[in-house]
Amino acid sequence: MKKNRQIEASPAIVPRRFYNCTLNEKLLYTSFLLLAGVAYLMALAYLYTSYDGIDGKPGLSVEDVAENYYGNRSGTRLESALRGPMAGYIDIEHRNHIVQWLKSGAPEADYNRLIKPMLDERCVVCHSPASGMKIPDLSNYEGVKQVANVDTGVSLHSLMKVSHIHLFGIALVAFAIGLVFRFALLPLWFQNTLTLLPFIAIFTDIAAWFLTKWDPIYAYTVIIAGGLLGLSWALQIVISLYQIWFLRCRVEVPEK
Ligand code: HEC
Repeated sequence: MKKNRQIEASPAIVPRRFYNCTLNEKLLYTSFLLLAGVAYLMALAYLYTSYDGIDGKPGLSVEDVAENYYGNRSGTRLESALRGPMAGYIDIEHRNHIVQWLKSGAPEADYNRLIKPMLDERCVVCHSPASGMKIPDLSNYEGVKQVANVDTGVSLHSLMKVSHIHLFGIALVAFAIGLVFRFALLPLWFQNTLTLLPFIAIFTDIAAWFLTKWDPIYAYTVIIAGGLLGLSWALQIVISLYQIWFLRCRVEVPEK
């Protein structure tokens, strides 16, 4: 009784393709995709010139990315002194504590609890104004800070600033490119994957910025996710441009 209605009542939705678009739409899509492509290349050039040689070597490398977010946590004057000329005033175990503290960013709380007692005991005889020697004053945090300047990379605060701008901006661009790309005629699984990819890539990329602050190994994730973003945009743009201008509607020969 109930199932007698005709299925034809709701006609199947035929997705629009580029060959269904008007010339005006094609012009709009083409100019947007071309400009977005140029903008992306410009972003790459900017990235290259701002990362190039962070680690002192030419070219953009994993080390550059790691150093940008994680910083270069060895090479404070205090650490090199402890490993070099001052090594004789401290035993290895205590030195390791100080090095550990330096690598964690030399926070003041731990200084008072762990570091000051060690320095007071072994170093302050010479390293205080009272000694009269013109050498770093290690009797207080301010003085120690002078030789404990650790480079911990971009600050969390500026990372948050840059990442929210990137998330908004890139989400919008990915959305716009995806809106055009949905008219492409492709196997569904491929089109769906390629539509999702830029969003997943940018999320992973930005999450990895924060992870790299914590462990430099995630610099690889930053680079791979960034590469995936570029690759998926390039594919979406090239496929769209090609189909806008070259794909003709296949004339269906009705079967008998
Ligand atoms: C017997 C005195 C003496 C003691 C003890 C001593 N130092 Fe020094 N320290 C010096 C002198 C002198 C210099 C400057 C000459 C030099 O750099 O070798 C110096 C230099 C330094 C410098 C500056 C290096 C630079 O980059 O210019 C640091 C950092 C330092 N000491 C750390 C320490 C630490 C940490 C301890 C304790 C583990 C310590 N020192 C113990 C005498 C001392």
